[in-house]
Amino acid sequence: MRILVIGGGGREHALVAALAADDASHELHAAPGNPGTALLATNHAVPADDIDRLADLVDAFAIDLTVVGPEVPLAMGLADRLRSEGRTVFGPGAAAAQIEASKAFAKDVMARAGVPTAASEVFDTLQPALDHVAEHPEPMVVKASGLAAGKGAVVCATRAEAADAVRAMLSDQSLGAAGGTIVIEAFLEGEELSVFAVTNGREITLLPSAQDHKRIGEGDRGANTGGMGAYAPVAIATPALLERARREVLIPTLRELDRRGAPYRGVLYAGLMIHPDGTPNVVEFNCRFGDPEAQVILPLVSAGLTALLDAAARGQALPPVTVREGAAVTTVLASAGYPASSHKGDPITIPDRLPDGVTVYHAGTATADDGSLVTSGGRVLAVTAVAASFGEAQSSSRDTAERIAFDGKQFRRDIGWREKERGEKREERRE
Ligand code: AMP
Ligand code: GLY
Repeated sequence: MRILVIGGGGREHALVAALAADDASHELHAAPGNPGTALLATNHAVPADDIDRLADLVDAFAIDLTVVGPEVPLAMGLADRLRSEGRTVFGPGAAAAQIEASKAFAKDVMARAGVPTAASEVFDTLQPALDHVAEHPEPMVVKASGLAAGKGAVVCATRAEAADAVRAMLSDQSLGAAGGTIVIEAFLEGEELSVFAVTNGREITLLPSAQDHKRIGEGDRGANTGGMGAYAPVAIATPALLERARREVLIPTLRELDRRGAPYRGVLYAGLMIHPDGTPNVVEFNCRFGDPEAQVILPLVSAGLTALLDAAARGQALPPVTVREGAAVTTVLASAGYPASSHKGDPITIPDRLPDGVTVYHAGTATADDGSLVTSGGRVLAVTAVAASFGEAQSSSRDTAERIAFDGKQFRRDIGWREKERGEKREERRE
């Protein structure tokens, strides 16, 4: 099969690698790709948001299946464009991609579908928003409605902080058009879980659930980032919880989108907050795989990935996939200055021999004129280890992350700390 993966980050390297592992006979293409995808696919220097040139590429290489990694081209209508040209594409059209691109839309869909989520109100003018904050119980969350590359949500302990966040978005336009409409919502207590439903619009196949680590610092401290590491599976994602997520969140949301004439073909990523009493509430929806969650969930699929994505893209019945026993942990290596800035051009050295089960996915890397590998973005690499147990995967990912070198390297040594604590508690109970 000729497959084009759109995007150039760690998620897209993981997609290319998983498709290559699924069937060695695939002819793989990436746009724009990165030095990691170049090892397995033909990279084309077309940006992920250049809809016309991407459509030309699909034509020129007679692509059988296009898999869209990032949200921006989906929100811009890339999937609609390709489908109107008779092409098969994994990813929702612009109308359904609003589930991520407009939090106001997502909240409206959830309200109509009866999906559990934090109580919220939408504002686009300053004074009504400030009046609402003045009466809202603390803490609360102020969110830009539009796409803000992970910077759109501010968790505010006090009304004063919330008022500042509201002013920054609505008056100072700190997030541009993305923050021109905001959502103010109640704070949800609990533990976050990322759930991935591959769907043809009617039925879903769940891939392993994962947990991201959004803060730059160990112990979940410091600034928010795109994600500093992830692991899968997560022990709190029990079959009973996933059944609730399917029944109360995923299926009602897909039905409501379909009712609105926005059928969904792709992966619906539900960011859930699991309350200590076990209730799942939706924090956000995304219209694509998570990054870095893709770097742990895709390596756990041992067979059937291409057939699943292709069937979802065609709106056909979903075939089963095989998921490996064991666990995957990924540790992100970020460049100096991240997340406020990033540093380009620092030479990277990766050990020639990696331990069994370890894959280094490229994200912000580039090939210098002399052919050597250098940093070129905030998140540089994601080091994934797949192993029989969570503990082995965690230490293997961390140890390899230690051995990769570049100036200013930042990474967290505690990816999966909640799962580790759960394991330790289980041990204590046994003793
Ligand atoms: P979002 O951009 O909606 O994914 O939010 C980014 C992060 O902010 C989430 O991953 C949570 O850690 C946090 N967050 C967002 N909404 C809430 C909420 N209602 N209650 C608690 N934390 C939240
Ligand atoms: N890792 C969070 C995201 O992809 O949105």
